[in-house]
Amino acid sequence: IRDDAEAAASHVAGHIINRINTFAPTASKPFVLGLPTGSSPLPVYRHLITACRDGLVSFSNVVTFNMDEYVGLPQSHPESYHSFMHTNFFSQVDIPVENVNILDGNARDLQAECDKYEERIKAAGGIALFLGGVGSDGHIAFNEPGSSLSSRTRVKTLAYDTVLANARFFGGNIDQVPRMALTVGVQTVMDAREVVIIATGAGKALAVKKSVEEGVSHMITLSCLQMHPSSMVVVDEDATLEL
Ligand code: GLP
Repeated sequence: IRDDAEAAASHVAGHIINRINTFAPTASKPFVLGLPTGSSPLPVYRHLITACRDGLVSFSNVVTFNMDEYVGLPQSHPESYHSFMHTNFFSQVDIPVENVNILDGNARDLQAECDKYEERIKAAGGIALFLGGVGSDGHIAFNEPGSSLSSRTRVKTLAYDTVLANARFFGGNIDQVPRMALTVGVQTVMDAREVVIIATGAGKALAVKKSVEEGVSHMITLSCLQMHPSSMVVVDEDATLEL
């Protein structure tokens, strides 16, 4: 628990930098990092960008896998997760473009694309650290309430609450928000050797309480991390209001 969102982000960024530097990745033994979108990780990305510019960390031997992507939104759309990641992170650090993996929500065969993604993660040696956020209904990636805890990368229909929450990124127009997404599964996240979640603001307080203090439930997919041997939820004071 940190005082505010900025301090939470600084803690998470410091942790990631520490893990990458301790691992000392090389081209033949890269550090494999799972990454989220959303507003909560944005200050984490800003810290990582600054650290990279200051020479405190390099992403040149880091391979990334993003959690999810909307179905049917052109990659060039400003709200696609491709655009989000390139604008807010990848274009500002020294990561080679070929090290970046993001699901293709416009693939002709969506399930084949998801299966290929799982294969690519496996071929990269598995994810060393998965950074994530949480939806206000407790979802991780786009594993909406009711997702199987053993799910893998697949097509998912978004919950109405999620569509509503994400309308703010589409000029408040709910009709513009895609209704489906490709997402890593709960089990894909659980397979990472370490999982770090950032949750900030009062809007996440209930999700944090249910995930941390109540039982493991497929209705609150973040709660699966109770079963993970190495996971951490970093919150600001506001996100602890229901604890
Ligand atoms: C979307 C993303 C999640 C993210 C969530 C919360 O549903 N797929 O990965 O955690 O939004 O976003 P925010 O951090 O903006 O509240």
